[in-house]
Amino acid sequence: MQPPVETQNVLRDGFVEFAYGDPDPAVLPVELLREAADRLLRRSDAAGALAYGPDLGPRALRDAIVARSAEREGLGLGADQILVSGGNSQALGQVLTDLTRPGDAVFVEIPTYSLALGVLADHPVEVNGVPMDDAGLDVDALEEAVRRARGAGRRARLLYTVPTFHNPAGVSLALERRESLLELARREGLILVEDDVYRELVFEGQAPPALRALDPEAPVVRLGSFAKTLAPGLRVGWIDAPPELFEIVSADGVLESGGCVSQFSASLVAALLEAGVYDDHVVTLRRTYAARRDALAGALRKELPAGCSFTVPAGGFFLWVRLPRGLTASKLLPVAERHRVGLAPGHRFCIDGDDRHLRLPFSLYDAASLAEGARRLAAAIGEAMAGAS
Ligand SMILES: Cc1ncc(COP(=O)(O)O)c(C=O)c1O
Repeated sequence: MQPPVETQNVLRDGFVEFAYGDPDPAVLPVELLREAADRLLRRSDAAGALAYGPDLGPRALRDAIVARSAEREGLGLGADQILVSGGNSQALGQVLTDLTRPGDAVFVEIPTYSLALGVLADHPVEVNGVPMDDAGLDVDALEEAVRRARGAGRRARLLYTVPTFHNPAGVSLALERRESLLELARREGLILVEDDVYRELVFEGQAPPALRALDPEAPVVRLGSFAKTLAPGLRVGWIDAPPELFEIVSADGVLESGGCVSQFSASLVAALLEAGVYDDHVVTLRRTYAARRDALAGALRKELPAGCSFTVPAGGFFLWVRLPRGLTASKLLPVAERHRVGLAPGHRFCIDGDDRHLRLPFSLYDAASLAEGARRLAAAIGEAMAGAS
């Protein structure tokens, strides 16, 4: 018998776990990474991957990121403008440490990536929520929130945003709103921390342009990651930002002490990119995840009772389901447990406590399990509503 895969989120036997948005371990590129590791460790300069790396990370990886940004986004960066990170979670923590001071007002979308709220909670800043709709963040509401924070004597420092294939809302910020957000950021000196983790996982057409690429001079700190396109366990991502912000972030004391935060993994990713196998792998992932999105959306359309609605994302990992009037996610949760379906209730993602939504990932399971999960969820909603009326 194969030993179980040890992961952060333990899946319960017999359950469909919609609570977790991890990539499916079955799609992780074990073979590609084995080959990359073999090539890397046979090179005459292999010891470099095991040494304290340059603070900014291995040059080969930074060159590869620069080349991809130039080709796909028209961004003319130098390798000294890319800082290799340990993934977006680490990068967000670092950016908050380096760019905020106690009492600063920071802004997040409602809803937002729930675990970013945990990273924010590690810092002595005041977190303010800004609503979003089907076209993404409400930029006028952000402007109002910035004004309120200033009125209360706060420094309005930064917005943490996931403008492309949002987790959990599944939407992308409309192009006009990207322009007005950039205009607001420039005018108010508000830093936009753009979490761009799902950019490559686009299912139809092109992903919308990154804020960072739309206006390279604007105060945008973009966080990119290989967690979703290669493997989360690698802990490799990157930060790019205009010079004055980049200078502050790359002077972080932890880097000075330890060098690149993921030197070995970053060298491994560089070796994989050099082999020219990354693009084909990403194409396969897009196809896999698009088929899973369709399977889950199709099953939900068939199974969910009237009064439920949901977004169908053009990329990323998540559907965002609105529950029927009168039913909260908190009320549904224990009923769903009895139906052996694990859920992430909306209030985890919403700093205003909104409890009318569920986040449903389609990344972790194949089509048949997603359809089974949708059936169990629909049965649980039916039962909870009967109990609620
Ligand atoms: C929006 C968002 N940001 C960051 C992360 C975590 O990224 P990383 O694994 O690179 O730390 C996730 C993973 O779920 C995510 O959805």
